[in-house]
Amino acid sequence: MSREFKALLVEQPEKKVFTRSIVTRSVADLPEGELLVKVHYSSLNFKDALSAVGNPGVTRNFPHTPGIDAAGEVIECSDGSFQPGEKVIVTSYDLGMETDGGFGQMIRVPSQWALPLPEGLSLKESMMLGTAGLTAALSVQELVDNGVKPEDGPVLVTGATGGVGSLSLAILAKAGYQVTAVTGKLEETAYLEGLGAERVISRETLMQGSERPMLKPTWAGVVDCVGGEMLSTAIKSTRNWGVVTCCGLVGSPELPVNVFPFILRGVRLIGIDSAECPAAPRVKVWQKLATEWKLDNLASMVDEVTLDGLEEKIQKMLKGGLKRRALVNLLES
Ligand SMILES: NC(=O)c1ccc[n+]([C@@H]2O[C@H](COP(=O)([O-])OP(=O)(O)OC[C@H]3O[C@@H](n4cnc5c(N)ncnc54)[C@H](OP(=O)(O)O)[C@@H]3O)[C@@H](O)[C@H]2O)c1
Repeated sequence: MSREFKALLVEQPEKKVFTRSIVTRSVADLPEGELLVKVHYSSLNFKDALSAVGNPGVTRNFPHTPGIDAAGEVIECSDGSFQPGEKVIVTSYDLGMETDGGFGQMIRVPSQWALPLPEGLSLKESMMLGTAGLTAALSVQELVDNGVKPEDGPVLVTGATGGVGSLSLAILAKAGYQVTAVTGKLEETAYLEGLGAERVISRETLMQGSERPMLKPTWAGVVDCVGGEMLSTAIKSTRNWGVVTCCGLVGSPELPVNVFPFILRGVRLIGIDSAECPAAPRVKVWQKLATEWKLDNLASMVDEVTLDGLEEKIQKMLKGGLKRRALVNLLES
């Protein structure tokens, strides 16, 4: 096996400017770890876009290969947890942050970061889902575990055309929930309806009256990917004993809300952290994504690119203008 491979490398040649290029790297340059994996597919997440432009909240040490997602086959495993040739998914923990990630054809990681690919999913399908799918599934699982049932009323998904949003919408629809999708791209209404949205509304429609302390109780549950005013508006319009999950900050990291929804309606706000999520819930939701929540329309939710096509997707994602998740094919890069 060749010990050289292609990777996207982010560098900071002069102290301020970050550059991105496709280079040949060597396995010897990879960090320590028990597990060496030949990456077949990865996918682009918001954190990757931030890492690629040198955001210090994600990555501080350069040169660096981003990519918080990777799926591929085991080449070597020094502690015997996996056999050569076994198919694995590696997401989150420190992958792609300070540890060279899935935008390279090889990764070396601690073996406990990997999961065996669940039966029923291909490596390609697992990365069509990626961390966005894991996060969406963890969010939906929180609604289920906290008693939100399909017959309780509509569930709101914010940032609906985004990775986490579109997958949350599709999983909720598959699980029988009536989903209202809120989007800044109303021209994508037909796409969102195709994923299972019963209603598609604009950000402005959702935000009407958002300055008021409480709003009409509407949502049985909310999967929020945006944060800020949109999350606070969603909380204020959640029904009694409704459940709101919070995973993202594309709108804002602030949460300008009062206590009324919590003390007068018993609304529950639940944080989602896929990166450090313990193994048991992680395995449970991947299993569901391979079976009862397996999505037939996954291929329509992604655009496949090689490493060369990533730059354009990164720039669009940073501007909130990416329309489909980017699946990264490392085999053909
Ligand atoms: N906590 C975790 O474990 C975890 C895991 C994965 C991701 N995340 C976070 O979740 C968020 C979404 O990630 P993603 O990968 O789905 O990103 P994404 O694909 O870029 O999607 C974000 C979507 O949010 C909407 N949006 C963008 N800018 C906005 C703004 N200023 N105001 C309101 N809506 C805006 C857009 O959808 P519309 O145009 O349809 O509104 C956009 O497509 C990010 O903050 C990410 O860091 C967290």
